[in-house]
Amino acid sequence: MPIQWYPGHMHKAGKEIRQVLPRVDLVIEVLDARIPFSSENPMLTDLRGDKPCIKLLNKSDLADPQLTQLWLSYLERQQSVNSVAIHRQDRDGIRALPGLCRQMAPDRGTGLKGIRTMIVGIPNVGKSTLINLLAGRSIARTGNEPAVTKSQQRINLHNGIMLYDTPGVMWPNVENRNSGYRLAATGAIRETAMEYDDVACFAAEYLLDNYAENLQRRYRIEELPRSGLELLEVVGGKRGCLRPGGRVDLPKAAKLFLMELRSGKLGRITLETPAMMERELAELAMLREQKAARKARRRTGRRREEP
Ligand code: G4P
Repeated sequence: MPIQWYPGHMHKAGKEIRQVLPRVDLVIEVLDARIPFSSENPMLTDLRGDKPCIKLLNKSDLADPQLTQLWLSYLERQQSVNSVAIHRQDRDGIRALPGLCRQMAPDRGTGLKGIRTMIVGIPNVGKSTLINLLAGRSIARTGNEPAVTKSQQRINLHNGIMLYDTPGVMWPNVENRNSGYRLAATGAIRETAMEYDDVACFAAEYLLDNYAENLQRRYRIEELPRSGLELLEVVGGKRGCLRPGGRVDLPKAAKLFLMELRSGKLGRITLETPAMMERELAELAMLREQKAARKARRRTGRRREEP
């Protein structure tokens, strides 16, 4: 099932970002360290162009440390980008951010207004938590429900840095189906726009292939099942997610499994690598070409039929 979630307020927020962006010196893009590729909003990448950007791989406490390192070196290769892994308990990392902003926009730090930065990112990636930590007080509303911040605000950090906070925005069409699943698995998609069973099956398959030991440890299973669906059945059975009569309640088991994944109970897990991203982008490009060729064929066919 393709996952799409682009309510009206996100469309409006996107327009506001477009208006303010030319006036900022630096963009701080908050990504989810578990899905640095899928949590990057292509619409924001286009809008940003080559404006200096700090890519923050947030929630790195939940991500696989080795893969986080791999992602950081991959992202650093992009022009005018600095990437840093961070999480809400990483006080030193958060304290170092203003210095990094000054380093990336050295000409702006002396003016009255200081450096104008904009925090952007998809919903639930930890923007509000980060802003509150940077400001040293509670300014932005946080919540583990995507899309809590709905309008833009300007925050003076009183250290030569002005922050524009923006609501979390998705994009109209998550073309890469796997990215949709990963976004849903990590909690970026409102639950009414996703099917728990479907998403949990996708995540279970990935974990069976890549984090088998984590599953064995958490659920005390010696011999792992072969498919994601079977794994959810086993988890449901072990955790008492049962219907009357003893059959496993799959939606309940799926939700429980995803909650455990999201909260880090299954260990530090990253759901994608740069190599997977390259492969999926190449597949997408091929699909787009095939679609364009089909469209062109239909058009020439119609033209031939016309008298
Ligand atoms: P947003 O503005 O981008 O939408 O995200 P927000 O800060 O509201 O954070 C969404 C959820 O992610 C919150 O969970 C928040 O605590 C959690 N979070 C933010 N940063 C980190 C991080 O670095 N690591 C981890 N593990 N979680 C993070 P919540 O359940 O609403 O809050 P809480 O009960 O966890 O405090």
